[in-house]
Amino acid sequence: MEIKQKKEKKEEIVRIYIMGREYKVPAGLTIMKAMEYAGYRFIRGCGCRGGFCGGCATVYRVKGDYKLRMALACQKTVEDGMYTSQIPFTPAEKPIYNLEELSPSVNVFLEYYPEIAKCVSCNTCTKACPQDLEVMDYVQAAIRGDIQEVAELSFDCIMCGLCAMRCPTEIVPYNVALLARRLYGKYVMPKAKHVEERIKEIESGKFDEEIRRLKETSMNNLKEMYEKREIEPE
Ligand code: FES
Repeated sequence: MEIKQKKEKKEEIVRIYIMGREYKVPAGLTIMKAMEYAGYRFIRGCGCRGGFCGGCATVYRVKGDYKLRMALACQKTVEDGMYTSQIPFTPAEKPIYNLEELSPSVNVFLEYYPEIAKCVSCNTCTKACPQDLEVMDYVQAAIRGDIQEVAELSFDCIMCGLCAMRCPTEIVPYNVALLARRLYGKYVMPKAKHVEERIKEIESGKFDEEIRRLKETSMNNLKEMYEKREIEPE
């Protein structure tokens, strides 16, 4: 009996509201797990469960706090008095382009996303980003045509769409950033010479014999070889 009481004491329960309905769930769960605990089944609005796919965009408020907050349901832990709503998908503007035919010019963003010129620098996009990216800064960099800056500032974007949903001038920052990263990867980033050389070596068949031997090696030997492998010096 005493053990049971101790156990009950350990499991703290919080009260949350999912789409307006009240549920009591264990503290420490993510919003996603709390929803499943409450009986919801994810058919949409859930992908990797690891904070990478951007599929679980969520808005929430906590009682007593006027702020509307944004998060990823698979990452954010529930709080007592939390009101939460899921936003599985919202359509957004995305022009079609052929990367092979584009050039990394300073006007490329304004040509495909002219609405970026309407940015009022309100920073709402930055506040909405669950990855804490400087979204407004990279939109400003896009206006200046600085492909590298946009690509670097947006590198951790997971395309959840919350920035576009909050933008009062209807810019779709995450698609602007995607264009930047594509252009940067294809035209701006210096080529890794050693990788090109290694690819040539692979194509010439230099490693064919070694690969054949590895394929015939048992799993245990492979593990052993892996443990003993030479690690590249830093
Ligand atoms: S499920 Fe992929 S980011 Fe949350």
